Amino acid sequence: MIEVKNLKKTFHLKSGDVKALDDVSFSIQEGSVYGVIGYSGAGKSTLVRCLNLLEVPDEGTITIEDYQGIEMHGGIPTYQGKRMTARQQNQMRRGIGMIFQHFNLLERSTVFDNIAYPLKYTGRSKAEIAERVQELLALVDLREKIDAFPSQLSGGQKQRVAIARALAANPRILLSDEATSALDPDATESILNLLKDLNRKLGITIVLITHEMAVIKAIADRVAVMEEGKIVEEGTVYDIFSDPQAPITRKFISSASPLGKIDKLIADDSSLTQIKPGEVLAKLIFQKDCVGEHILTTMAQQYSVNLNIILANVEYLHGNPLGGTIGILSGSPENLAAGIRFLEENHVRTEVLKDGRVD
Ligand SMILES: Nc1ncnc2c1ncn2[C@@H]1O[C@H](COP(=O)(O)OP(=O)(O)O)[C@@H](O)[C@H]1O
Ligand SMILES: [Mg+2]
Repeated sequence: MIEVKNLKKTFHLKSGDVKALDDVSFSIQEGSVYGVIGYSGAGKSTLVRCLNLLEVPDEGTITIEDYQGIEMHGGIPTYQGKRMTARQQNQMRRGIGMIFQHFNLLERSTVFDNIAYPLKYTGRSKAEIAERVQELLALVDLREKIDAFPSQLSGGQKQRVAIARALAANPRILLSDEATSALDPDATESILNLLKDLNRKLGITIVLITHEMAVIKAIADRVAVMEEGKIVEEGTVYDIFSDPQAPITRKFISSASPLGKIDKLIADDSSLTQIKPGEVLAKLIFQKDCVGEHILTTMAQQYSVNLNIILANVEYLHGNPLGGTIGILSGSPENLAAGIRFLEENHVRTEVLKDGRVD
């Protein structure tokens, strides 16, 4: 388990202080994929760098790997009441691999040497190192590139090398800081599949930092949303996607969802969004236990409500429906009210966007 309590980190700049981490707490279950999302400058990179003490927090407590409760006081890490030694810090870091947006490979070294590098001073023989490198290359499916130089590889292949290198010492945790942000969509998908695979096969815990909702949706179990050094929302990926609470989370979700287009249509006063008196423009969102689209048809028939669909998008996430429909509902006031009640009872959340009813 990884547990972080009341983590604080302020950078003191000439232009003023920046609170990169402003009292951050969360815990990550062993073997899970934990996403952290936020816009640029939210404090995500500082957070992951603090997890392995590449950056030392000012205050707070971190439990990671064998180190239960590393306490920070005035920027000094202490463990079991004593200042943490460099040796302890290095030992802790060996249990944590890290990958980055720009891969950070040694450009003048071959794939073999890049991966072998962290194994160099670990007391292994040359033969053992060679064997381990082969193993790692098989794991990331890149055996044929063993003698290539980074400049001869695609972005996706470079990230595979970086992943192999990060896993060389068999860490139990992998920190990924925007690892797919420099990749095209195909490479992104294949790297995310690889990470999910490693998570399943090796049981490795993954902490995934990103500014892209799609990345979270693809592989994370839980997600924390960061803004200005704070976690503003945290939960299972399904709950956060289906019912975001914080304004910034709503913004993230809506920008990633086809249903988000409605905001622009309304702002532009599009003819699609014009309603007559008595009508309602509504977002009908499928919730966890909703059994599917036929609820809408049933509602329309049973309550004589007409549904004129403007946008629709439903997908399945962790086995549950995500998304819904945006459309104009019309019918008698009683039928409309009863129809909407029926939807709510059947786990379809109604968000009225424009209301032509008189009350
Ligand atoms: N080493 C540093 N020195 C000074 N300011 C920093 C440093 N690292 C990060 N910051 C500042 O802290 C804030 C959070 O940065 P960062 O953690 O990199 O955010 P993110 O990864 O979410 O984009 C930003 O305002 C950034 O400018
Ligand atoms: Mg960053």
